[in-house]
Amino acid sequence: MNESAPPTSFTPFDRPVRAAFVGLGRIYDLNMRGYVDNDDVHVVAIVDPSDERRAQRQVDWPEARAFRSVEELASSGLGVDAVEVLLPIALHEEGVTQCLDNHWHVNLQKPMTIDLPSAQRILDAARANDRQLRVMENYLFYEPLRKLKEVVDSGALGTISGYHLKMVASGRGGWEVPGDTYQHQFEQAQLGRGTLLFDDGWHKLSTAIWLFGPIREVRAWVGSTAVVPGVEIDAPTTVLWEHVNGVRGVWDITLAVDMYLRSDYYSNDERWEVTGRRGFARVNRCTGRGLQQPSLEIYLDGETRAFHALDDDWASSFRDSGRHWLRWLHHGEGPLWWGAEEATHVLRVALAAYESSTYGGIGVDPQSLG
Ligand SMILES: NC(=O)c1ccc[n+]([C@@H]2O[C@H](COP(=O)([O-])OP(=O)(O)OC[C@H]3O[C@@H](n4cnc5c(N)ncnc54)[C@H](O)[C@@H]3O)[C@@H](O)[C@H]2O)c1
Repeated sequence: MNESAPPTSFTPFDRPVRAAFVGLGRIYDLNMRGYVDNDDVHVVAIVDPSDERRAQRQVDWPEARAFRSVEELASSGLGVDAVEVLLPIALHEEGVTQCLDNHWHVNLQKPMTIDLPSAQRILDAARANDRQLRVMENYLFYEPLRKLKEVVDSGALGTISGYHLKMVASGRGGWEVPGDTYQHQFEQAQLGRGTLLFDDGWHKLSTAIWLFGPIREVRAWVGSTAVVPGVEIDAPTTVLWEHVNGVRGVWDITLAVDMYLRSDYYSNDERWEVTGRRGFARVNRCTGRGLQQPSLEIYLDGETRAFHALDDDWASSFRDSGRHWLRWLHHGEGPLWWGAEEATHVLRVALAAYESSTYGGIGVDPQSLG
């Protein structure tokens, strides 16, 4: 399989980008923040089959035209340069290729898609249409994680010995998630792409690759818990891996159905802890507000340094990711964070975890898949 990058012949726009939102559901509330008060963009269209959601979102962009489908938008004659694709995962491939075929640049939500042939078809569409394809990763724009990367890269912790990620999905707390949003997630889970490992977990794998580079071996033990009859959540799950640079990571995914977790968004308790030969650095939370202490702490030589003034509102990572994309389109300031190549590697690592678990936790090279 040739997962070469989409084209690089892109020339930034010499005017604000004309953008459309495709999919106006739960995550739109955060994705739209990159577009607010932004001179790099002019929102010209919103698209969703739901009358209710179009009416609700029209308030944000009174001048934008509203459409029920991508086909309707494409045939309207309205000029569009780029789209923010916020569709349920099962519709990613169809929706993205349709947008690329309309010669629109695409900023796609994660997970890119569910398997490698599908990823290839998306990459082929980007190449054939000579359009930019970004698979957005807002976690790379979360300030405590950016600071963590800065500390790791600075060498202050000494040579990195290893790291672990923790993720606890709690059943109580956080914002309201509409029933049909959950329905899409459960259908996805029934196809073997679980909510925790594949969907939310996509971010954890992205941050691992962002911090330490490509992964050469993955081992996993994917579990399952019935939360209500007919609905299974993919925990307890443990995934471990080794990067090409020799650093190893471990990630535990746990379900705490009855635990209340304070959160403005999803009730997910997350941690990243990197240990070097001299000390460690830990990001204490992200989406939820589990540990109410500074979001980043560094321990070195018997002293702890805590960062009290980072922008640790998870929503800010969406704002900054969106602004980055629009600045790229308007001014060419890159890199994309992430492009299609990196996203395909994330997909490979997730698929390698499933492959490993299926065969009893054997080591799987993500590049050997396909
Ligand atoms: N980055 C993150 O942390 C994060 C968090 C949550 C969700 N997501 C991702 O965002 C995407 C959307 O998730 P969500 O939670 O907003 O889902 P959602 O179900 O709440 O919203 C999807 C919207 O798409 C609309 N839609 C369905 N078919 C359509 C079509 N053919 N054309 C246009 N619109 C259509 C639906 O009516 C709905 O309003 C998913 O890919 C999900 O994985 C990312």
